[in-house]
Amino acid sequence: MLDFILFGAVGDLALRKLVPALAALERGGRLPKGFRLIGVGRGEHQTEGFRALLAERLGEDGIAAPQLIGEAVFVNMDVTRTQDYGALAEVLIGRSDCDRVYFLSTPPGLFLPIVTGLQEHGLAAPPARIVLEKPLGRDLSSARAINNTVLRAFDESRIYRIDHYLGKETVQNVLALRFGNVLFEPLWRREWVSDVQITIAETLGVGNRTGFYDATGAMRDMVQSHLLQLLCILAMEAPISIDADAIRDEKLKVVRALRPFTAEDVRVKTVRGQYRAGAIDGQAVASYLDEPGVAADSRTETFVAMKAEIDTWRWAGVPFYLRTGKRMAARAAEMLVRFRTPPTSMFTVAGNTGLTPNALLITLQPDEGLKMTVMSKVPGDGMRLKPVSLSLDFSEAFKTPRMEAYERLLLDVMESRLRLFMRADELEAAWAWVDPILSAWDADEEAPRAYSAGTWGPAASSRLTARDGNLWREEL
Ligand code: BG6
Repeated sequence: MLDFILFGAVGDLALRKLVPALAALERGGRLPKGFRLIGVGRGEHQTEGFRALLAERLGEDGIAAPQLIGEAVFVNMDVTRTQDYGALAEVLIGRSDCDRVYFLSTPPGLFLPIVTGLQEHGLAAPPARIVLEKPLGRDLSSARAINNTVLRAFDESRIYRIDHYLGKETVQNVLALRFGNVLFEPLWRREWVSDVQITIAETLGVGNRTGFYDATGAMRDMVQSHLLQLLCILAMEAPISIDADAIRDEKLKVVRALRPFTAEDVRVKTVRGQYRAGAIDGQAVASYLDEPGVAADSRTETFVAMKAEIDTWRWAGVPFYLRTGKRMAARAAEMLVRFRTPPTSMFTVAGNTGLTPNALLITLQPDEGLKMTVMSKVPGDGMRLKPVSLSLDFSEAFKTPRMEAYERLLLDVMESRLRLFMRADELEAAWAWVDPILSAWDADEEAPRAYSAGTWGPAASSRLTARDGNLWREEL
């Protein structure tokens, strides 16, 4: 039996991602026996209304999730009032021998009262687990405060800090690719890799999240979490096993080896942007500054490009270019590893631009796949070479149904698997690296550079890579 207690149950993330993920788990027969969803929140709702809301949101999918909807309970309470937890305790204590997962899909400002309320009512005892949704802080000191708060009631082995990018299929495939083959690992180092690019580009704007986004920005929203996690998976040494701590130890070493930024580095190696009006798929879209709820003089970045460096024997001198933005030219989440050119060439090259370096493109979105660029002979007379691609499309290679990131992560929590979640020290190390960049931006009088919606960001982003003689993928 499992009680899944969802704080912020009628919030955007819960209804858009978590509830559909739970429904998909039920459809796949993966929800534990005796699963019960307990929504916690404020407002009009009571249990019947909550069930109706779930059914409405799930539509057709709801019909295949009778347990999720039919057993759901709603506890209408003010999570900041300790005395309100009595009502929750009553619902929970009624089922003895029942496992518990608390999912805090709330602003982090509510973590402290929630954890305190649970603890004071004896609801935080093992084996209860707690899941924390980002943003986990806005700098190192607030992240520490969150960790300390939660650690007062839950030990680290019962804390699940979500970064949903770790739940994406292709991210785990990078582990398989790197450590389940001999082909890549010998070349996966400074001697053979010239540069690495990690891009998460979105065509969406900030939607109805302007309040959150304008106070957050792309660095905190995307770089500190998703991009750094991708970088870690790509750059880490082979863990001694697939266990959570073995993997987290290696990721932590990568973050700690990231070269810290001085104020001068921030000026030269980072680019902030903010979108202006433009067009996405032929449709005109507004400037960030005209989005409802955004201050007319907002300096919040909706785009970041930067050059990170990892000071280890494996990676010293290899630029890791990171880039993310809203309202960009295409939706793409991908990692590109570019290799060095052969030291000398005995071939004639078609088009005569010289040998194209091998490159491995790993795509997470919109499709999941691998593409390897290799030089190949042009058929026919003579010996002319041309770059061609070896492609692997995961949806073609495996016809098995896919799992959404949240589906996989929620199942992992229910089954107590920590591998795809962040540890306190990882999170704090990531903030420690990001903090000086944010401070330098705050102190900078210049606003983020403007870029038109529907482009690849400000021109300065191209100059960032060009300075090293490199190009972003779309420019290659
Ligand atoms: C979230 C960010 O963590 O990730 C959003 O808060 C962003 O701003 C989203 O849009 C992107 O996730 P995905 O899975 O759609 O690429």
